[in-house]
Amino acid sequence: MHRPATPFDFANMPAKPNEYHVSVLREEVTGFLMPAAGRIFFDGTLGGGGHSEALLLAGAEVVATDLDPDAINFASLRLGGYLGRFRPAQASFSQIDAVLEKFGVTGIHGAVLDLGLSSFEFDTPSRGFSLKGDGPLDMRLGPTVPRTAAEIVNTWPEAELARIFREYGDEPAARRVAARIVEERIRRPFESTLQLADCIARVVPKRSQIHPATRCFQAIRIAVNSELDELAAGLDAITRRLEPGARFAVISFHSGEDRIVKNFFRTRSTPWLDRPEWPAPRRNPLHLFHLLTSRPVTPTEAEIENNPRARSAKLRVAERLMP
Ligand SMILES: C[S@@+](CC[C@H](N)C(=O)[O-])C[C@H]1O[C@@H](n2cnc3c(N)ncnc32)[C@H](O)[C@@H]1O
Repeated sequence: MHRPATPFDFANMPAKPNEYHVSVLREEVTGFLMPAAGRIFFDGTLGGGGHSEALLLAGAEVVATDLDPDAINFASLRLGGYLGRFRPAQASFSQIDAVLEKFGVTGIHGAVLDLGLSSFEFDTPSRGFSLKGDGPLDMRLGPTVPRTAAEIVNTWPEAELARIFREYGDEPAARRVAARIVEERIRRPFESTLQLADCIARVVPKRSQIHPATRCFQAIRIAVNSELDELAAGLDAITRRLEPGARFAVISFHSGEDRIVKNFFRTRSTPWLDRPEWPAPRRNPLHLFHLLTSRPVTPTEAEIENNPRARSAKLRVAERLMP
């Protein structure tokens, strides 16, 4: 089973930032957040440190979290020159309160979440996310995540597996995949990524260039790391720490994430609520934001050509209102 590299495992790490991860919509995020000296930003998904770097380059301070010690180690090395202005912590972004307290910070002037996985996580077979090389069925973003993909695949009831494949993976063959997994695990428990990928590929027709197990792998990863619950909790917790005028930028990569982000910002950026049974519109008690992106910002064709993993990115940004 993969044990993330602590202390820093130099042999395991790419030498250059772009070999770890190419940041998505970096210019756009920086343009919205307007970093400057004397302002403190929260980067909840540090990864290879590309978004943090853009904020630091503009003179701002950054408090950053990542669940993955590899990310903390890699970005700390990359951003070591900003000592004093860059404060990383291995934690979930939903734990922002504890992290800010640790660093003695009360409020933030902007925040960014760039959801999902880094390329390094995706492409390292020993992490269990990859469909290219064989590895253990792990898929935990960090050592504090309490269960592995193997536990889910080998122990969850068939109906639960079908539900996550449908809800988190939009997999049309969800029920058939779940049934086949349950049938096969009785004979031999699943231990490796390619063992599971082969089983799924025998049920799901190849529809495009992407591997037929891609959607189910995404679904299992989301379940392992409770990604959607963490996102909902993180949006709330981060919002409570935004100073008036602070901007909150969130990049999502699949429909389940984007739905949560869109609804979160929409319900909090509508000043008035109206219902047919009410004599007059009422003030929305949740009204906290001015939405800056009525439609999500997406990468340019040039960015997608340079970094195909950016293709499904959607950026939504809102500004905290004055009290
Ligand atoms: C797409 S990468 C971020 C890349 C980064 N913005 C950059 O420019 O290099 C997403 C990162 O978020 C981390 N992550 C995912 N869910 C998290 C959570 N709930 N809390 C903290 N980090 C999380 C992953 O481990 C991964 O390193």
